[in-house]
Amino acid sequence: MQHLFVFALVLSGGVLIAVDAHGRFMKACFNQNVLRIAGGGPGSGTTKLPAGPTGLMRSKLQLPSGVRCNHCIIQWNYRAGNNWGDCGNGTSATGCGPQETFRGCSDIRIR
Ligand SMILES: *[C@@H]1O[C@H](CO)[C@@H](O)[C@H](O)[C@H]1NC(C)=O
Repeated sequence: MQHLFVFALVLSGGVLIAVDAHGRFMKACFNQNVLRIAGGGPGSGTTKLPAGPTGLMRSKLQLPSGVRCNHCIIQWNYRAGNNWGDCGNGTSATGCGPQETFRGCSDIRIR
C-alpha cells in the first residue's frame, strides 16, 4: 500500500484514537466523519490522499454539509509505506503490513 493521508473531522469531545495497519479508524464513530478529498486533484472523491514527494502539499477537503462547530478538530493521519511486511496474499513487499502512522490535530471552528 502506498503512503497516504486520511483526514477526519472530530465534532465534539474528541477522544483521539488509533488508525489500524490498513489505515482504518479503530472506532466506528470516527468513520462517520472521515473527510473526502475534493478539488479534482490526486485522491479526489476518495478519503485517501496519496502522499507525494517531500515538500508542501495542498489539498481541499469536503466538509459534511451544514456542519457548524465552535470546538472541533481536524485530524490528519499519515500512513507511511516504507516498512517491509506481509501483503496477506502469500507475498511480502515494502508497504505491506503494519506501517508507521503519524497524526496531527488542529482545533478549528466552522461557521
Ligand atoms: C499481493 O498484494 C500486493 C499488495 O496489495 C500486490 O501488490 C501484489 O501484486 C499481490 N500479489 C499477488 C500474487 O496477488
